[in-house]
Amino acid sequence: MTTREELARELTSARERTLRLVELDDAELLRQYDPLMSPLVWDLAHIGWQEEMWLLRGNDPRRPGLLEPAVERLYDAFEHSRASRVNLPLLPPTDARSFVRTVRDKSLDALEALPADDGSGAFVFGLVVSHENQHDETMLQALSIRTGPPILGRGAPLPPGRPGVAGTSVLVPGGPFVLGVTAAEEPMSLDNERDAHVVDVASFRIGRVPVTNGEWREFVDDGGYREPRWWSDAGWAHRQQAELTAPKFWSVEAGTRTRFGYVEDVPADEPVQHVTFFEAEAYAAWAGARLPTEEEWEKACAWDPERGARRRFPWGATEPSAALVNMGGEALRPAPVGAYPAGASAYGAEQMLGDVWEWTTSSLRPWPGFTPMLYEQYSSPFFEGSGAGDYRVLRGGAWSVASNIVRPSFRNWDHPIRRQIFSGVRLAWDA
Ligand code: AVJ
Ligand code: FE
Repeated sequence: MTTREELARELTSARERTLRLVELDDAELLRQYDPLMSPLVWDLAHIGWQEEMWLLRGNDPRRPGLLEPAVERLYDAFEHSRASRVNLPLLPPTDARSFVRTVRDKSLDALEALPADDGSGAFVFGLVVSHENQHDETMLQALSIRTGPPILGRGAPLPPGRPGVAGTSVLVPGGPFVLGVTAAEEPMSLDNERDAHVVDVASFRIGRVPVTNGEWREFVDDGGYREPRWWSDAGWAHRQQAELTAPKFWSVEAGTRTRFGYVEDVPADEPVQHVTFFEAEAYAAWAGARLPTEEEWEKACAWDPERGARRRFPWGATEPSAALVNMGGEALRPAPVGAYPAGASAYGAEQMLGDVWEWTTSSLRPWPGFTPMLYEQYSSPFFEGSGAGDYRVLRGGAWSVASNIVRPSFRNWDHPIRRQIFSGVRLAWDA
């Protein structure tokens, strides 16, 4: 079970990261960088509002909070679209900062008072940590789509890649494995990761590493964006309407990309990012491959065929570190392929966690016996058939995600047309 000390540390590191991301002047925090993203000050106050609701108000909106009812409604993500948030009478940055500080002080008091053996009490704190970290990634997406001179540094150094790994694959022999996790093994897992259940998966091959910029450039140069035969009907319709000709932020002619305001040569050995599901699908068809299902992805990531058991992380039980995985948001970019041989899964797949979110063919579905958690609206409004629209699952977490919230079972999702996210591709093949 996660101890109070661990939870306090995780709350504090998430908050330090949040505050670093909003170390900007008020005008910057109130700006809408793009209609796809909220002004940063919205994320800040939303983080505090959800924390207050779950931890301090027992998830009961009738219990009064620190904000006026009309004000707190501004931070309900289901009431206001991202595009409209810039026009709301949001709390000024100073007020938003003091609101989240006051809430956090009370949360830390509540943590002190938590009986050491109260597992469900501890889960609420874990949910707060996960939610804040997820919004920190959202803020990084906003900062990456921002135009104008850079306001962040170029990012922390990363290990070098290895030549010869791009374009290679590993075999995952057919057979059953355990998909998902139990609350006992992963107490902080979210509702859609549970419960563990046996799934049979036919033999397949999967990319040893994600698809690189260099490989993607060949697709572009081969006319991949002009050839409907590689695209699904919906994908081609979107490609035409959105006039996609390369990953977002690329200038094909100059061979450069813009990253957090810096214009730089596209690094050939880095995993491609900022592609839609539709582009990923088209690239895979062009390459004579396909995208993995999320079941295949999770087996390649977590299953240990020798022990007949899941590993906690692809490489084993060791906690994530900078020698194993590129996560945490400091690098501001994916690491070159082959940078983490020690992070390989039992089947030899590398960089399954970190670097880029990987599109799968799966839409979001509940695992058998799904039970919503305290935050009931986290998953179910987005399940296939719920009417909320079309979503595809992404796996593995990107460089931008905190390493303490992503596991092999962690599921992310987005519309197949989205690419301001840190999304990339890993190929799969029938075997
Ligand atoms: C799981 C990343 C799709 O940002 O929409 C944050 C996470 N949910 N607050 C999202 C989330 C509510 C969610 N994703
Ligand atoms: Fe949220």
